[in-house]
Amino acid sequence: MMYNNLLQAIGNTPLVQVKFDCQGTIYAKLEYLNPGGSVKDRSALFMIEQAEKSGMLKPGGTLIDASSGNQGIATAMIGALKGYKVIITTAEKFSKEKINTIKAYGAEVVMCPTTDLIDDPNSYHSKALQLHAATPNSFMPNQYYNPQNALAHYSLLGPEIWQQTNGKITHFFAGAGTTGTVSGVGRFLKEQNPDIKVYAVDSVNSYRATNGNPKPYILESFGMDFDTPVYNPHVIDEILTVSDDDGIAMLGNLAQRHGLLVGPSSGAVACAMMQKVTALKRRDLAVMIFGDSGRAYLTKGFYQETHKSEIIMPARTESMGTVELP
Ligand SMILES: Cc1ncc(COP(=O)(O)O)c(C=O)c1O
Repeated sequence: MMYNNLLQAIGNTPLVQVKFDCQGTIYAKLEYLNPGGSVKDRSALFMIEQAEKSGMLKPGGTLIDASSGNQGIATAMIGALKGYKVIITTAEKFSKEKINTIKAYGAEVVMCPTTDLIDDPNSYHSKALQLHAATPNSFMPNQYYNPQNALAHYSLLGPEIWQQTNGKITHFFAGAGTTGTVSGVGRFLKEQNPDIKVYAVDSVNSYRATNGNPKPYILESFGMDFDTPVYNPHVIDEILTVSDDDGIAMLGNLAQRHGLLVGPSSGAVACAMMQKVTALKRRDLAVMIFGDSGRAYLTKGFYQETHKSEIIMPARTESMGTVELP
């Protein structure tokens, strides 16, 4: 492929079979191969270009958003290319690698304390709102509350998965933070075939999973920590929750047995898929979103626990009714 512009290289990521020992066939959508390294390249570009079209974002403007890292990285990359100043608010708990990546693109990072609730006045989300209000000619994509976030994935990622699987997809699993990915892709897939099962993957300790009494959790880049209008319950069959221990164990398994060095949300997605694996039949085809790379979390020590992960998911030993894609 040849492109005249880096942004044209966003999307069209590969769908790769992961040889888990189970009925049905499991594919991972390698979103970490986007230019900015995550699924968030798609939604950030979509929201920024919608704002340009509507006149909300003008040349010389400033992009401001709150992010656990990947939305910030995508916004910083796009801002660098398009000539916008970028300010990203984030929290101390998120990986240093992601925060340094945002800075490497030339963006300003505003570090905020880690808070349990997103609407805490000290949270990184509240800080972004304050900065946006105080900065003339600024645009805040506001991924947590902007319906365009889900529309991005409805318009781009959903159709891509449908085409790549020739419409054979039967199960879809995605990490849920803003819920833009699972709500947008879920809506598209349900419109094509209402029988497709759509699963959102959350942390057991999130705001939503604990009915508003969140506990700290180590895994990052996903977790339903606020009520958001982006969430579309009509297209999500079930929210599956994953503990830190299970997610971390799966990360070791994926790296050391499958060559997939992926981030925490991908480990959680694979664990959630495991919760449903006995329901998969020979002709079923599951797609898991692997949203970012493990390289952004190496300092967190997530990748050392193969012994535990052996129990969770052994590698496939023989071909079991594989659904082949062209
Ligand atoms: C790697 C990764 N996976 C999953 C998610 C959750 O996606 P969404 O915000 O669309 O629910 C994010 C969000 O930042 C992410 O960075």
